Amino acid sequence: MKILVTGGSGYIGSHTSVELINAGYEVIIVDNFFNSQPEVIDRIEQITHKRPLCYEGNVCDRQVLEKIFQEHNIDAAIDFAAYKAVGESVSKPLMYYQNNLNALMTLCEVMQEHDCKNLVFSSSATVYGDPESVPISEESSLSVTNPYGATKLYGEAILQYLHIADPQWSIAILRYFNPIGAHSSGLIGENPNDIPNNLMPYICKVASGELPYLNVFGDDYPTHDGTGVRDYIHVVDLAIGHIAALKTICDTHNIDVFNLGTGTGYSVLDMVHAYETINQVKVPYRITKRRPGDIAECYADTSKAERVLHWRAERTLEEMCKDAYRFINHQV
Ligand code: UFG
Repeated sequence: MKILVTGGSGYIGSHTSVELINAGYEVIIVDNFFNSQPEVIDRIEQITHKRPLCYEGNVCDRQVLEKIFQEHNIDAAIDFAAYKAVGESVSKPLMYYQNNLNALMTLCEVMQEHDCKNLVFSSSATVYGDPESVPISEESSLSVTNPYGATKLYGEAILQYLHIADPQWSIAILRYFNPIGAHSSGLIGENPNDIPNNLMPYICKVASGELPYLNVFGDDYPTHDGTGVRDYIHVVDLAIGHIAALKTICDTHNIDVFNLGTGTGYSVLDMVHAYETINQVKVPYRITKRRPGDIAECYADTSKAERVLHWRAERTLEEMCKDAYRFINHQV
């Protein structure tokens, strides 16, 4: 099967491309390298010994997609192409709506024209807003707290209505919890150029001495140590979850939504201590005030993914910390 992976050189896209190739799929990537580097394609080749075909271009650009669909018989698409920085989305909401929603709509239009109606969509646990209770099941109420989250919630709605209008579509919507870690080869991972927004890349940069200390955003949440609790999932487990979703949903003419997480929550300080112990490094930190918009606890009820996709996350917190560390030190 030929799979189009939009945003395939990004953090989750590159790991998913590797797992797709390993599972025998033919991967075609389209990426404008807005938040990634072309060398990632070389790295995917190094890991899999197969070079994915890569088109440089923006998924919002219909001509780019038309060309790909004319040149290849695409069986399904996995859509990762989106901006993802929550803070930036608050200051540039139109940029987020324009990019994330246009990319999704353009992709769906071109897919429909070419009668390719199998789609896996990257959504996020952010669509649960401030959850009423944890663990969070797919039936929990949905709300948005920032424009990035709005693009994911609207994206889901666009797909639900698309499926109502044309039930020939087969769509899996995947709500990611907090992906961290890297491929065990140390060749691909997450290494933001700017000061990171997310916890794990920040911890990595503090441990390597690039940043002086971690700001822990609040220690007065109603959690076991007062710091925020999240469901951290190894990015390779998440990538494998996409293949399970693709296999399950393809040609079923169904639309369904799945949480991809581990079901276990760890606090910010749990993460700091685990990273220190596992990698034998120091991560100095300071407690600062809460970050606006943050919630106390967020972790997944994973039973639906286990039952329907026959998938569950397998990699431990130790592997997540080790692999993140290995990748960062590979870069130096
Ligand atoms: N945190 C710190 N210091 C930092 C960064 C984060 O203390 O420098 C804390 C946060 O307050 C939070 C936890 O670490 O308690 C995790 O924060 P992240 O920014 O890593 O992740 P979030 O849970 O806030 O958000 C992430 C993604 C979103 C996605 C969401 C889904 O950034 O895109 O998970 O659950 F929507």
